[in-house]
Amino acid sequence: MNKTLSRRAFAGGAGAALFSVITSRKGFSAPAQDQRVAVHATAEIGTISPLLHGSFAEHLGSCVYGGLWVGKDSSVPNVEGFRKQAVDWLKELGIPVLRWPGGCFADDYHWRDGIGPADKRPKTVNIHWGNYTEDNSFGTHEFIRLCRLIGAEPYLAGNVGSGTPQELRDWVEYCNYPSGSTLSDERAANGSPEPFNVRYWGVGNENWGCGGNMTPEYYADLYRRFRTYVRDFGGTRPFMIACGPNRNDVNWTRRFFDALSARGGPGLYPHGWAMHFYSNGRDVPTKFTVENMREQLSSFAELENAIVVQRGLLDSYVRAQTAPGRPRPQVHLLVDEWGVWDRMVPEEEKTYGRLWMQSTMRSAVAAGMGLNVFHRQADKLYMCNIAQTVNVLHSVILAHRNNCVRTSSYYAFLLQKPHRSKTALRVETNDTSPLGISVSASRKDNELVLTFCNPKHDVEMRVDCALVGASAVSAKAQLLSHPDYNACNTFENPNVIVPKDHPVSVEGSRVRLNLPPISMSTAIVRLA
Ligand code: AHR
Repeated sequence: MNKTLSRRAFAGGAGAALFSVITSRKGFSAPAQDQRVAVHATAEIGTISPLLHGSFAEHLGSCVYGGLWVGKDSSVPNVEGFRKQAVDWLKELGIPVLRWPGGCFADDYHWRDGIGPADKRPKTVNIHWGNYTEDNSFGTHEFIRLCRLIGAEPYLAGNVGSGTPQELRDWVEYCNYPSGSTLSDERAANGSPEPFNVRYWGVGNENWGCGGNMTPEYYADLYRRFRTYVRDFGGTRPFMIACGPNRNDVNWTRRFFDALSARGGPGLYPHGWAMHFYSNGRDVPTKFTVENMREQLSSFAELENAIVVQRGLLDSYVRAQTAPGRPRPQVHLLVDEWGVWDRMVPEEEKTYGRLWMQSTMRSAVAAGMGLNVFHRQADKLYMCNIAQTVNVLHSVILAHRNNCVRTSSYYAFLLQKPHRSKTALRVETNDTSPLGISVSASRKDNELVLTFCNPKHDVEMRVDCALVGASAVSAKAQLLSHPDYNACNTFENPNVIVPKDHPVSVEGSRVRLNLPPISMSTAIVRLA
């Protein structure tokens, strides 16, 4: 949460009303509103792990087949079968971690279907996403290769819903055992003598829903059983991620940990607890009403609250399980799937595949607000993955046949990239309502990064940002903005929404810039 601004932060600043609504200024059609922000340069929250900028690719619609993977014989320019343009852009974005193969798909996926000679792999029906058949030409080796090409850490989601503990255990051995076992030799024979060293392993996905419609107690039993057989097969200690709640479902979390604690205790606690939080929208992406946009963007306050509440719950279980004098077990919180989920356009789904969704200026601001939340809660989070990477839902790239475009949300991630590995700082704003200015700040040495999002469609924000405990020497900024919040980048017009240099001024401990309606900006400030 943005903290409400204290008077002290602005001592010496205008002590006048926090809001001063000013009528139209030259060059802007929207009225301007003064926004006071304070960044506490020495109030450190924690390191912003790059993993908070992760991504998720499911066998769904054209995310993998036709999107990331076009096949080696395709007329689409490709590297070893991967769409070259997507590889280049994902590399530029530097996605730190990529989750695969689902989603709902994960609990109906059997990894052995996706290894060995491609022409011998079975054809399977994707029951969750339209009953289409896939030839399994994209399997474990292809996924790992894609991760290596784009520089992402692989995260494999195991099958609990329709799989067995042995299947998951064997997948881990196949990926991670160096050599000499039948499974590791099979991996070598399939072209990868070196172990994949996969660290992140999901134990099912949404097992309260598409992953088996389980009760938390039943899932806890299964989690404990699957977990028992997954081992460190040679140097890479698996980081086990259990299926967490839908949004802030405290009932799922409590009942899972109550059941798990009743038998097995902290030794079997998961390393990660994966919450899913979508920001649903009532309109199709390019036809949002103001009211529905406001409702969707307001959900980021709920996301932030969910993070705080779920982290608190995890802490209470961990505390209760810590024996005197023993180290505390750690259960990290993940937001495993997040992003906007708008209404689909049936014709677009027919042409481009299930859950194909455009990304507009509104979606970019949503991405910016989500990342601001994660930065402000950097001490409570381990990993967050946007859903999804290409074509599906809140994607950063759209691709179809020979066309490929970076969405507005791609640029929102790019603008947030400078925060990675810096230390998040406490921020305060004068307006802490869900649609008030959204801010995150981070620092490393004398570089300060500030990201501001204006979620309001009808107000230009004049930002006066006080640096408490630091003073600025210089600053440069970039802006992502468009007068029409329903505007988007298309295959025909790919550069409708792209970052542009933006004026920012510094004066002692003050940084000032303007934010047009529905926009986001990142300023890099050099400190004295
Ligand atoms: O991202 C699309 C779907 O949303 C995933 O398959 C599932 O986990 C979630 O419900």
